[in-house]
Amino acid sequence: MTHLDDLLAMDLQAGEDDWTPTPHGQWLAAVLVEHDFVSGKDVLELGAGVANHTILLHRRGARSITATEITPGLLETAGANFRRNVGDDVEIDLRVADWLSTDGTFDIVVTNPPFCQSGKQNRRYFLDSLILDGHKRLRPEGELLFVQSSMADVPRTLRRLDQNGYDARVVDSTSGPFRDYYFEDAAFMEEIEGVEGGYEERGGVKYETLSVIHAKLRPWAPHANAHLPGR
Ligand SMILES: C[S@@+](CC[C@H](N)C(=O)[O-])C[C@H]1O[C@@H](n2cnc3c(N)ncnc32)[C@H](O)[C@@H]1O
Repeated sequence: MTHLDDLLAMDLQAGEDDWTPTPHGQWLAAVLVEHDFVSGKDVLELGAGVANHTILLHRRGARSITATEITPGLLETAGANFRRNVGDDVEIDLRVADWLSTDGTFDIVVTNPPFCQSGKQNRRYFLDSLILDGHKRLRPEGELLFVQSSMADVPRTLRRLDQNGYDARVVDSTSGPFRDYYFEDAAFMEEIEGVEGGYEERGGVKYETLSVIHAKLRPWAPHANAHLPGR
């Protein structure tokens, strides 16, 4: 086994309601082990799932980890998997929180945001929310690291990140066949037809591209007479 395989080796257990890692999460994991994005940093992870990334954040040397899930039950799975793989002595702040609705500021926010199954009319809701409001959880020059599908429109994400004060880039991409559940959602299959370059077809098989995106807040201060509360 290589050192990278060692980093990725983990004993994960999941209940019926837990999110089983998909190629999206696996690609973010691969990028986390290949690159040094988190060492020495205070990390906020949104939607920890079965802690597949939470464990890597620790192994890659995060200074502190705050990991969230939307329900206590899902968070319990994340906590149990984290403890089983890293031991009882490592501190972690586990929080039930609705996306960015939590306290504090961090050096970097890491996430695999819900998209196809976001449960929102705007499937990009969690991505767009991250781009618009992620800065509230970030320190100056803070960073975002997340994975998204080509079907969620990567050029749109990069454009919006730039508009919202980030220097952003695609770190690395990979291609993979559609998940079975895409075909079960007729509205999704229709929506993706409107996304330019959203997918490609080879030999009768539909493929999406998965991209990990890194964005860093540019230094900025509001104009002196901006409409801010308390002025
Ligand atoms: C695409 S899954 C990613 C899970 C895991 N990080 C992975 O990559 O395998 C998205 C996760 O976000 C969680 N989630 C959904 N809505 C959320 C919300 N409003 N706030 C926080 N987490 C949420 C889900 O329960 C799920 O675990």
